[in-house]
Amino acid sequence: MANICNSTTLIIFGASGDLTWRKLVPALYNNFKKGRLAECTNLVGFARRPIEDAAFRDHLREGVTTFSPGTYDATAWQAFSNNLHYYQGDLGVPGDFSRLDAFLSSLENEPANRLYYLATAPEHYPAIVAELGMAGMAEQVEDQGPWRRIVIEKPFGRDLDSARGLNRAVHAVFDEHQVYRIDHYLGKETAQNVLFFRFANTIFEPVWNRRYVNNIQITVAETVDVGHRAGYYDTAGVVRDMFQNHLLQLLALVGMEPPSSFNADAVRNEKAKLFESIRPIALEDTVRGQYSGYCGTDGVAPGSQTPTYAAIKLFIDNWRWQGVPFYLRSGKALNRKTSEIIIEFQRPPHLMFHLPPGSDFTPNILSLCIQPDEGIHLRFEAKVPDSEQEMHSVDMDFHFHSSFDGALPEAYERLLLDALEGDASLFTRSDSIEAAWRLVDPVIQGWEAQNDPPLSPYPAGSWGPEAADQLLARDGRRWRLGCVNQAGTIHAGD
Ligand code: BG6
Repeated sequence: MANICNSTTLIIFGASGDLTWRKLVPALYNNFKKGRLAECTNLVGFARRPIEDAAFRDHLREGVTTFSPGTYDATAWQAFSNNLHYYQGDLGVPGDFSRLDAFLSSLENEPANRLYYLATAPEHYPAIVAELGMAGMAEQVEDQGPWRRIVIEKPFGRDLDSARGLNRAVHAVFDEHQVYRIDHYLGKETAQNVLFFRFANTIFEPVWNRRYVNNIQITVAETVDVGHRAGYYDTAGVVRDMFQNHLLQLLALVGMEPPSSFNADAVRNEKAKLFESIRPIALEDTVRGQYSGYCGTDGVAPGSQTPTYAAIKLFIDNWRWQGVPFYLRSGKALNRKTSEIIIEFQRPPHLMFHLPPGSDFTPNILSLCIQPDEGIHLRFEAKVPDSEQEMHSVDMDFHFHSSFDGALPEAYERLLLDALEGDASLFTRSDSIEAAWRLVDPVIQGWEAQNDPPLSPYPAGSWGPEAADQLLARDGRRWRLGCVNQAGTIHAGD
């Protein structure tokens, strides 16, 4: 079948790295197996290590059998791996990109499209982009002939200045419409479903505003610690690693106005408007924590002040959300792995039923469960049978795994396919990247410069520092988890 269609080549820079092995190649293989990758899509891995094609393929096969064991099939792998190639090259060696270009041309039919994927350490991004430019490998004739696109992994900069610098370096070679900045949270089915839930239904949108919503909480909790990524993590911390990208993207999905159509520009314009409406974050509305034992990890600087946990309260200054607090928290080495968005509704203006003395009324809670038990739960009050006025909270649940056949695809499957098909809706535009940095930079800088609030230690396996509970308690609220248990209310710390 090869060589009968206009070929596309996907070139991965950083091909010997973990991301290629764990995520990118399993996702490409799964797309191939589902018949979504043209047979003449070549995949070329570029890295410094000298490896033969055969060894490269074996290594990638092991990645697929390890990380996608349910879909591995020897025949399909064989067909897929025929188009896998390795090119040994070095960023620092003059002429290596021109040689790569010649190698790619030898594989491709004319005209051939190219998708460049930056999966190296981020400090190499500007040099790779510049080399692609100098070798003439980014040039495309507008709307004609083969296209050239580039996918850029996170982190996109480490603050506003460096993100702007990277955007400038990228724009010197590629037009914005050729650039696909990845945030893998946007590729998760459940994150995409937030827009479908809001805008393909009519019953929720009328109450999706300050009149009915009391507060919104976004929790992205991980049980894993920093492990072997300590070297990177210790220079980043939780705000750069999780808030600037994943949590703010979830916030945008839940808070943005309805776009007029589901195309990249319309969706991303609404997100940009939302980011611009977020009020600068006050330091007293933040909490930072570090799990016990973090400083003893290999690769962590002695006495490191890097936060592994943060909680932030913020406000969106627009008509829909004025006065509604958004509480965001994320951390490593926490009690449970769960990513969820909680919409807590207002209490009834007048309650005619008697609550038993000392008991608290549970408001309606809508939980958008991003992972691991993907779905949506709606909690409401019901009368306990055979009681006079007793109420109990009950849940209506939707679970992806029971309503739809098959396992949910990995986020990278969708994202890689979209980049190949030229759909940028699930990728972050330069203005939103910069807006997100503009928002979190003062928090990071404030923490470092003023040591305020102080770094709060928390035990590994807990729900984070107590100060995070106090952040809500002083507003008369508490953290809620709605995805973990179908029967009752589970609160953080329970
Ligand atoms: C990455 C962060 O972007 O997201 C990691 O760098 C984090 O620190 C990971 O563990 C979480 O992703 P997921 O899909 O497992 O929730």
